Amino acid sequence: MPHADVTASRRLFLQYLAGSPALAAGMLGTGLVRDLTAACLSVDSTANHTAQQLEQSSTLIASENEALNVFDFRSVAEQVLPPAHYAYLATSVDDDRMLEVNREGFLRFQLRMRRLVDIRQLDTSVRLFGHRWDTPIVIQPTGSNGAFHPDAELAVARAARVKGHLQMLSTVASTPVEEVIAARGGPVWFQLYAAENWTATQAMVKRAEDAGCSAVVLTVDLQGDSNRETVSRGIRRDDRDCTLCHDPNRPRPMHTHLDASSFRITGTPPRTGPPRPRGMTWEYVTRLKNATVMPVLVKGIVTGEDASLCEAYGADGLVVSNHGARAGASGRSTIECLPEVVEAVGGRLPIIIDSGFRRGTDIFKALALGATAVGIGRPYLWGLASFGQAGVEAVLELLRRELEMVMRQAGTTSLDQISPAHIVDRSL
Ligand SMILES: Cc1cc2nc3c(=O)[nH]c(=O)nc-3n(C[C@H](O)[C@H](O)[C@H](O)COP(=O)(O)O)c2cc1C
Repeated sequence: MPHADVTASRRLFLQYLAGSPALAAGMLGTGLVRDLTAACLSVDSTANHTAQQLEQSSTLIASENEALNVFDFRSVAEQVLPPAHYAYLATSVDDDRMLEVNREGFLRFQLRMRRLVDIRQLDTSVRLFGHRWDTPIVIQPTGSNGAFHPDAELAVARAARVKGHLQMLSTVASTPVEEVIAARGGPVWFQLYAAENWTATQAMVKRAEDAGCSAVVLTVDLQGDSNRETVSRGIRRDDRDCTLCHDPNRPRPMHTHLDASSFRITGTPPRTGPPRPRGMTWEYVTRLKNATVMPVLVKGIVTGEDASLCEAYGADGLVVSNHGARAGASGRSTIECLPEVVEAVGGRLPIIIDSGFRRGTDIFKALALGATAVGIGRPYLWGLASFGQAGVEAVLELLRRELEMVMRQAGTTSLDQISPAHIVDRSL
């Protein structure tokens, strides 16, 4: 191709890249951006300028204090984690489009800001089952935190303690629940993946209860399995010997005192996962409720009908979630599922929502639509992978600050002042 054509093509490509949401969202690896910018050294000044902007926008933060938003931690996590572990963190289902679906859902709702309110005092606290938390931002359960940092769930628990957050602990955590509660310096909520047999499930619930967990959250959105292609690709790209760490004979801490066959965990490492009892029905919620003194929440609810069934079968609360775009390619963001759930529940049960929350505005929108609290998954894991406990704390702090800023901009000084009057639904 003649040099002029090459230059023009590169310029066009860079202009396209500069305006690309993929760049803004940090979806392009820094290595790729660096290669692209290097390839443009010989092109004209406009293209060079664009190249420099790209290079700058992709610069990795060197410490948690440099982060401007939670995405800054994602770039570091991608660099520091082995390919298979990053892919486990990042993966959605099918072509990963659901990740964008969750984010795009927020665009449907606009904010109605109010002026001239005395906003000097701000109270972000929220009450859940009699306990008051400093913030409505909840640390959602994520499995295998040891894949992201050696301090794993302990680092998350310490950050939760320092920043005053509710933490949910996964059934498939890398760290025993007793140790996590000690590091948290108070109760955590136990997320339950039901085992194939009831006795094994009961034993896990009993252990969580004895350890001091103050609620149990039954996850129900993986019963039909999920097609996670990105994690499979990441495993293929990773040339380390996974069996050095993933010992199929070493069960997860929550499973250690139980017969491993109860869980029917199959497959060669590291492709093991929680059991997915196909026969579970709504009666299971009542059964669980009768088996514990802890409040029972159901996680993975995305319709008004199922929200009503949660209530009918005795659940004390629910989590609107599509497992962070990891459950199925429904094409629906959780923020768009929220209104029908809120309507069905009618304020009788607390509603926690997660999946795709990355900004204070996202959190504010959910609270305005009727959520009681908002959960995050990947953002704190990006922080954990990047800088351990300090990274998790920084992520929590950023989100808290962003939420507080939106609250001030909207003239709301406590959560109960945030209402549907602060929202415009563009689809109506
Ligand atoms: C790496 C990873 C592991 C997860 N493990 C669990 C789990 O063990 N149990 C569970 O109920 N949800 C699990 N989730 C889903 C989260 O609890 C939460 O619903 C989701 O991450 C929220 O979406 P977000 O990552 O977009 O913030 C996991 C999510 C990720 C990213």
